[in-house]
Amino acid sequence: MSDDVKEIFRRAKEGKSIFVDRDSLNPNFLPDSLPFREGQSKEIAEILSPILLGSKPSNLLLYGKTGTGKTVVARKVLKTLKDTAERNNLVVAYVNARTESTEYRTLAEFARSLDLPKDEQIPFTGLSTGEVVERISRQIKRNGMHAVLVLDEIDYLVREFGDGVLYEFTRSSERMAPGFLSLVGISNDLKFKEGLDPRVLSSLSEEELVFPPYTVEELRAILNERAKVAFRPSAASPGAINLCAAMAGSEHGDARRAIDLLRIAGEVAEREGRKGIDDSCVRQASSKMEVDRVDEAIRSLPVQNKAILYAVSRFDGGTNTGELYLAYSNLCKKLGIETLTQRRVSGILGDLDLLGLVEASVVSKGRRGRTKKIQLLIGREALTKALSEDPAFDFP
Ligand SMILES: Nc1ncnc2c1ncn2[C@@H]1O[C@H](COP(=O)(O)OP(=O)(O)OP(=O)(O)O)[C@@H](O)[C@H]1O
Ligand SMILES: [Mg+2]
Repeated sequence: MSDDVKEIFRRAKEGKSIFVDRDSLNPNFLPDSLPFREGQSKEIAEILSPILLGSKPSNLLLYGKTGTGKTVVARKVLKTLKDTAERNNLVVAYVNARTESTEYRTLAEFARSLDLPKDEQIPFTGLSTGEVVERISRQIKRNGMHAVLVLDEIDYLVREFGDGVLYEFTRSSERMAPGFLSLVGISNDLKFKEGLDPRVLSSLSEEELVFPPYTVEELRAILNERAKVAFRPSAASPGAINLCAAMAGSEHGDARRAIDLLRIAGEVAEREGRKGIDDSCVRQASSKMEVDRVDEAIRSLPVQNKAILYAVSRFDGGTNTGELYLAYSNLCKKLGIETLTQRRVSGILGDLDLLGLVEASVVSKGRRGRTKKIQLLIGREALTKALSEDPAFDFP
């Protein structure tokens, strides 16, 4: 075995890891306290509390950008509700629509919390969603269940499958009485409301709660708390924590990004056999995350989008539509792929802009009309690495 491998195992055996509780940096970890979210937690608790006296709580929508604590706050409040409740007809369920990936599986996962009778259980496939909703409603009615369903990433469900199921649920109070079902929807996309049937919208958003992005100060406090649980005392230097907070707060205050940075910085420090995490570990973690993000975004792109992205990357400090089209056309010849029209290229640039890979903004050239200023928003190295995985780009 190589010396490196031996060294890794030797260090692990000696317990020289800087981690004390690695799991506390995982996405599913439920911290003891959620600073800066006391207001939202209380408000959700107030809205749900009628259920403890047997009344149906209002439906509720939680909104906010990614990493603002929506999921963790909802799970925490739900857990406390479950722990407080003494009624056994109270059911609290949590389902993430994106994780389940289909409407059917989302429903089936919810149904699992309801303990359906044997002959009504939901098979892996085969039923219509209407039938699944029917079985769920029947079970809630039969047992007089007081149910709360937290539907996380509800925007994904609506975007991919429409709002039919939500419509059924928000209209089903008669079918469920004397039981009931309250919905807590969570979304990081405000626009998803625009696609909802107005009746679904008004019912679903009886109450709404916004989760603002964290400030850099807040991120720092959150990281400090987490570092105390995750690492040996003083393994994470204040400088490193500040840097994680500043980097994660630079776009919008995203606690997930902050914690991911800290975890990966910890892994870097560990791999390098350091005693603690310093700034350089955080910087390495950040570029690793950038490479991973770019990799993931690029890998699934069609070849034409990749070609356009590559053409953009050939220009230092940005380019314009005409120049880019020329470079793109030459590249297509080199790659042996079809050359799309300027119009199609323009459309694809828009898509790449949405993905945050390029910036393509319209600038006026006075009487000579308008053009686009186009520039790469990602590191060129990360791009080259991601493209090198596609055999089409295997040219010297
Ligand atoms: N106030 C807080 N205190 C401690 N940790 C927090 C706090 N807010 C968020 N976190 C942590 O930050 C990470 C992201 O939070 P969470 O998953 O709740 O974000 P989200 O708003 O659901 O984002 P998304 O919209 O992307 O799903 C989690 O690891 C969570 O534990
Ligand atoms: Mg979430």
